[in-house]
Amino acid sequence: MSTDELLGRRLCEVLSIEAPIVQSGMAGVAGIDLVTAVSNSGGLGVMAALRVQPEVLRDSIRLIRQATSKPFGVNIWLHSDVRTSPNPAEIPEDVVRGSQTVLNHFRPRFDLPSTLERPPSPTDMIDAALEVMIEERIPVFSAGLGVPEADLVERFHRVGTKVLSMVATVEDGEAAVANGVDVVVAQGGESGGHRSYGHKLGRQNAMGTSCLVLIPAMVDAVGAEVPVVASGGVIDGRGLAAMVALGADGVLMGTRFVATRESAAAQVWKNRLTTGSRTTTLTDGFTGQWARVLTSEFTNHWADSGAEALPGLLQSAAGSDLFGAAKRADDDQMQPLYAGAAVAQLSGILSAAEVVSSTVESARNILGR
Ligand SMILES: Cc1cc2nc3c(=O)[nH]c(=O)nc-3n(C[C@H](O)[C@H](O)[C@H](O)COP(=O)(O)O)c2cc1C
Repeated sequence: MSTDELLGRRLCEVLSIEAPIVQSGMAGVAGIDLVTAVSNSGGLGVMAALRVQPEVLRDSIRLIRQATSKPFGVNIWLHSDVRTSPNPAEIPEDVVRGSQTVLNHFRPRFDLPSTLERPPSPTDMIDAALEVMIEERIPVFSAGLGVPEADLVERFHRVGTKVLSMVATVEDGEAAVANGVDVVVAQGGESGGHRSYGHKLGRQNAMGTSCLVLIPAMVDAVGAEVPVVASGGVIDGRGLAAMVALGADGVLMGTRFVATRESAAAQVWKNRLTTGSRTTTLTDGFTGQWARVLTSEFTNHWADSGAEALPGLLQSAAGSDLFGAAKRADDDQMQPLYAGAAVAQLSGILSAAEVVSSTVESARNILGR
């Protein structure tokens, strides 16, 4: 294998980038500053579009274009219960009561009133966001939590957009390739943030498969057709080298980029990712969908309560007063601090450019070329 192949030449060619590193789309973290810093460093910066108003998204895409001439991506979820939200009125009374009872346990901490009400109906914005992305002819569309359908892939291809699909199973990887995507991102169970399934699974199944097992299986299944990017637990060049050894063409990193200077994450989150004792857990108590976050008072109490999360993203709507107050107060126990399983090895808040260059350089050293 040549050096170029080892360091992801195939991925770089498909996406027209220089370093085989994709930065994850991350709501509240991956704004214009982080995206342009990563793209200007040779990787692929990806903006998060979930819950962004369509016209705000259009403006952001245009601002990114002003700040970089390099390719960038825009990410959104295709999850069936997020693309079209469940009707709050149809949630069983005992489910609403169970969830609100846990939230009520913590509301007094921020002087918030107790409630057993249903959350309001959210506005579905994903399809409108997809239209904006197509109209703006973005360089790369990055789909998470659901395989893009063939006609959506074709519409992106018609305007010259490459399509990247993040999946957590070989079956979904095969479906994505059958639908015409250009790159498959294989999400291992180590990953920070939400599990990349198109519908909600039970906790045991949602845990996912480790990269050590998933990456070679995905490479064997679809690697002959499209580049495979490994996602989950990669925070430095050792991770990139290991994923390349497993057959991946590059890596997608989330947690490492949260703790960068250009990330829009709150300082308390960056500090918790890089200092002190850190463990992670899978919870659906913050949003309604399973996500890996730093273990906290809230995640422990939610798990012990046995409460059932509201469907779609209605759990996050139900708890928005509590989680919002925690965010404003810099309370690290009552808000979702998404983090991958490798978080305890993170130290130091770097620039995005340092992350890209040091990861590539160290992988080159390890691989001996
Ligand atoms: C803070 C944070 C937010 C995330 N938000 C998204 C998102 O909006 N869309 C998405 O497809 N994946 C999202 N992810 C998941 C990542 O795409 C990826 O699977 C994960 O970050 C890889 O694991 P790592 O965090 O150990 O690098 C997010 C991850 C984190 C840490």
